[in-house]
Amino acid sequence: MTERLTLAEADIVRAAEIWRAGGLVAFPTETVYGLGADAGNDKAVAAIFAAKDRPSFNPLITHVASLDQAKALAVWSDRAEALAAAYWPGPLTLVLPLRDGAPVSGLVTAGLDTIGIRMPAHPVARRLLTAFGRGVAAPSANRSGRISPTRAEHVLDTLDGRIDAVVAGGASQVGLESTILGLTGKPTLLRPGGITAEALVGTLGTHVFTRRDTEAISAPGQTPSHYAPRATLRLNAAEWQDGEATLGFGDMPCDLNLSQSEDLSEAAANLFAHLHALDRSGREVIAVAPVPHRGLGIAINDRLSRAAAPR
Ligand code: TXA
Ligand code: MG
Repeated sequence: MTERLTLAEADIVRAAEIWRAGGLVAFPTETVYGLGADAGNDKAVAAIFAAKDRPSFNPLITHVASLDQAKALAVWSDRAEALAAAYWPGPLTLVLPLRDGAPVSGLVTAGLDTIGIRMPAHPVARRLLTAFGRGVAAPSANRSGRISPTRAEHVLDTLDGRIDAVVAGGASQVGLESTILGLTGKPTLLRPGGITAEALVGTLGTHVFTRRDTEAISAPGQTPSHYAPRATLRLNAAEWQDGEATLGFGDMPCDLNLSQSEDLSEAAANLFAHLHALDRSGREVIAVAPVPHRGLGIAINDRLSRAAAPR
């Protein structure tokens, strides 16, 4: 039985209690809903992989409420400091060297000597993390290979009965997973997301490398079919064909529109919810209009091409 928790203080306390007891609680963040467990509890973290049917070699992001918590987990640096000052709380995950004796399960880091950390901005996530007082490991709250959830209903679609509780906190504002930046060597973009590479370059004053195209898959978010609806996706559709579910961009007739006013932030926020809705329509093909490949459009196109990849 999955408890439905609200934003009432008693429910926030209840969620932290479940984490302390080693349970799983899905909760809203500004990017997508996360499936959280005590990052220091091996059994609890293992339960995340079981609930998601997720291959266990994937490392997880640890969510924190404060900089002190982040510094207890990772070897901090000037670059980490500058990025945290500019973007935390917010949709940026930093991959940093793991601190010796950090209170974190080896399952969270997948045995690596690095750790991905993020301080989410969503007020409900902040209340929960503050109430718990320790790091919370949380991948997106969906069964492996399915679309990331931006609402509590999406979480329940694939995880009802498999997790202890979900905190319902409305729609996620960003709608795309966090940007992941590797800081263990040269700054390297590991996953595009809500914060653009251009913005990171501006803050760091140095080049940011990408390794998606040049190196073997290193982050499981990088497996081609990771964000997958049941229907087949037809991308960059210049016109609609009979029988398709249609996802538009800009001023055009369609079933659902990412953003009629061509606002890429709005399109990102709508992306997963619209894919969920069109997938539920039961049609075989979802046709998607072209989305401009700039700014947030790069992250949107990244998610769309993964959702369209053969599996
Ligand atoms: O927006 C988000 O980041 C959401 C919300 C819930 O915070 N979380 C999320 O987690 O997307 P998940 O598990 O679906 O994706 C985590 C990604 C994976 O691709 C994982 O490989 C990468 O982060 N990651 C985590 N720790 C890492 C590490 N030490 N080195 C390299 N990649 C890491
Ligand atoms: Mg995910």
